Amino acid sequence: MRAVIVESFGGAEVMRWGEIETPVPSPGEVLIRIRAAAVNPVDWKIREGNLARLFPCKFPLIPGWDAAGVIAALGEGVTGFSIGDRVWSFCRKPDIQWGTYAEYVVMTADAVAMMPASLDFAQASAIPLAGLTAWQSLFDVADIRPGQVVLIHAGAGGVGSLAVPLAKWAGATVVSTARAENHDYVRRLGADHVIDYTTRDFVAATRDLFPEGVDFAYGTVGGEVLARSYQVVKPGGILVSITDKTDRDEAERLGIRVKYLFVKPNGQQLRRLAALLDDGTLLPPLVEEMRLDQAAEALGRNRRGHGRGKIVLMVD
Ligand SMILES: NC(=O)c1ccc[n+]([C@@H]2O[C@H](COP(=O)([O-])OP(=O)(O)OC[C@H]3O[C@@H](n4cnc5c(N)ncnc54)[C@H](OP(=O)(O)O)[C@@H]3O)[C@@H](O)[C@H]2O)c1
Repeated sequence: MRAVIVESFGGAEVMRWGEIETPVPSPGEVLIRIRAAAVNPVDWKIREGNLARLFPCKFPLIPGWDAAGVIAALGEGVTGFSIGDRVWSFCRKPDIQWGTYAEYVVMTADAVAMMPASLDFAQASAIPLAGLTAWQSLFDVADIRPGQVVLIHAGAGGVGSLAVPLAKWAGATVVSTARAENHDYVRRLGADHVIDYTTRDFVAATRDLFPEGVDFAYGTVGGEVLARSYQVVKPGGILVSITDKTDRDEAERLGIRVKYLFVKPNGQQLRRLAALLDDGTLLPPLVEEMRLDQAAEALGRNRRGHGRGKIVLMVD
């Protein structure tokens, strides 16, 4: 099969477009013929070796964790899928090696689900990793409730584009941050208030809107943004980071909870997301399509950090 192959840690220069053996599903796995694979920041972080201590990487390595495509073969013992089913998956495996920037990927069947019937492959591929991250943060960790106030940083980003409508669906009042050019987009996704973080201090702006603070702040941006986000959470509220390490001492001092989350594959949650997309409750993020052989350029663009929605790589 054709795939994007990375031979060692590094920048765009370590990526090449080549031929590699098509994988064969083991018992309990399915083979997916990929039609679209989304770009996520983790893809260039892995390529650069930034996560090597967290995840064992083996070379040659195919980047990519998101896929939408069709079932091409079933491993022994797999039930519930047929050849040709349109599926999506967050294809994270214990070892980082055989990802989704390729024509085929194998994945354990319980992490695969039928993709939303109302979406095309490009739109569907944009959702598994970011959608599961948002779902697990909002519901498994924070357990947000109707009437609560949430601050979602980077509402125009991949995770933010899904966290904003999910929080709205859960009945929260949603405050988000974005550059002015992205405000209409973030409002369309369901945000009640959007702060231009380039012209206003987000702590002061959030406190102007909700002087008592928010119930949940979402650390989708690390560094100084995460460090200052403790200051917008009301006592008893929670800050969830998906970027940098959390500071438990600071949280304790302020009387708030803090938690770092790393997203896990989950077929059942993908089915919940598919139902919400198909009944129109959840809007899919904006997607920009590029070709799989443009992966290096796509990663470079994502790395600059100001995308709207998601870039997806289309596989012929
Ligand atoms: N732990 C996990 O399981 C997990 C899962 C998914 C993602 N992540 C991490 O979460 C982060 C976000 O991921 P993503 O996929 O959403 O990234 P992304 O799609 O690349 O999002 C970038 C967004 O960040 C916004 N942004 C940049 N600087 C900002 C600032 N100072 N304040 C507010 N917004 C700002 C940009 O909006 P503007 O254009 O409006 O500036 C852009 O829309 C990445 O570091 C990623 O690696 C972690």
